[in-house]
Amino acid sequence: MAIPGAALIKTLLSPSFWHFTLKKWEAEFHTNRGAASKLRGSKDVFFDPSVTFRSPENIVLGSRVWINEGCKIWASPNARIVVGDHTLLGPNIVVIANNHGTEYGKGFIRDQPMVEKDIKIGPDCWLGAGAVILAGVEIGEGAVVAAGAVVTKNVPPYSIVGGVPAKVISSRNSNPERLYSIST
Ligand SMILES: CC(C)(COP(=O)(O)OP(=O)(O)OC[C@H]1O[C@@H](n2cnc3c(N)ncnc32)[C@H](O)[C@@H]1OP(=O)(O)O)[C@@H](O)C(=O)NCCC(=O)NCCS
Repeated sequence: MAIPGAALIKTLLSPSFWHFTLKKWEAEFHTNRGAASKLRGSKDVFFDPSVTFRSPENIVLGSRVWINEGCKIWASPNARIVVGDHTLLGPNIVVIANNHGTEYGKGFIRDQPMVEKDIKIGPDCWLGAGAVILAGVEIGEGAVVAAGAVVTKNVPPYSIVGGVPAKVISSRNSNPERLYSIST
């Protein structure tokens, strides 16, 4: 017979429970407090204290988004980053919504206007360790980005992309007609 409260006691004795609870507390009350307070739409979001945000007023995180150590989520004054519900970001991912201007003969790169473009990452995606997501990219619902990929173009829903630049390496759904949307 199950002992009442046994599950609770097991949880309280679990090192991983305390590890993530303390990290969450640290994220909410210490590091990133200023930036985090400006993030939009965030509900039940976890991000490690080492995560940095730029232009946080232009970052929208869906519910249950999880962002691991060392990620940099850098929106821009004129470009938003939107991350859908339930999406997971592995460690050391860079999502960056701008480029320096690189026109030859138009002065120093650092003096040229920034080129800013929105980034949309769908719901239920998983971005592997060290991936880089560049300005203007849309990652479809349910897609997986392999570790180390540099994503320069849109990613189809439910595909798995990898490499530099990222290409489709496989698909999570062998019957694309049966795509569904978890957000509806
Ligand atoms: C993408 C991933 C999920 C595996 O996906 P998969 O569909 O099972 O892929 P497979 O292992 O069957 O490999 C399929 C092909 O993609 C290649 N591939 C796998 N991972 C790759 C990567 N990171 N970059 C480039 N190519 C990769 C494989 O070499 C293989 O190529 P081949 O067909 O020429 O042999 C996995 O490789 C990965 O990158 N995981 C991320 C781990 C991580 O970041 N964890 C953090 C947890 S939050």
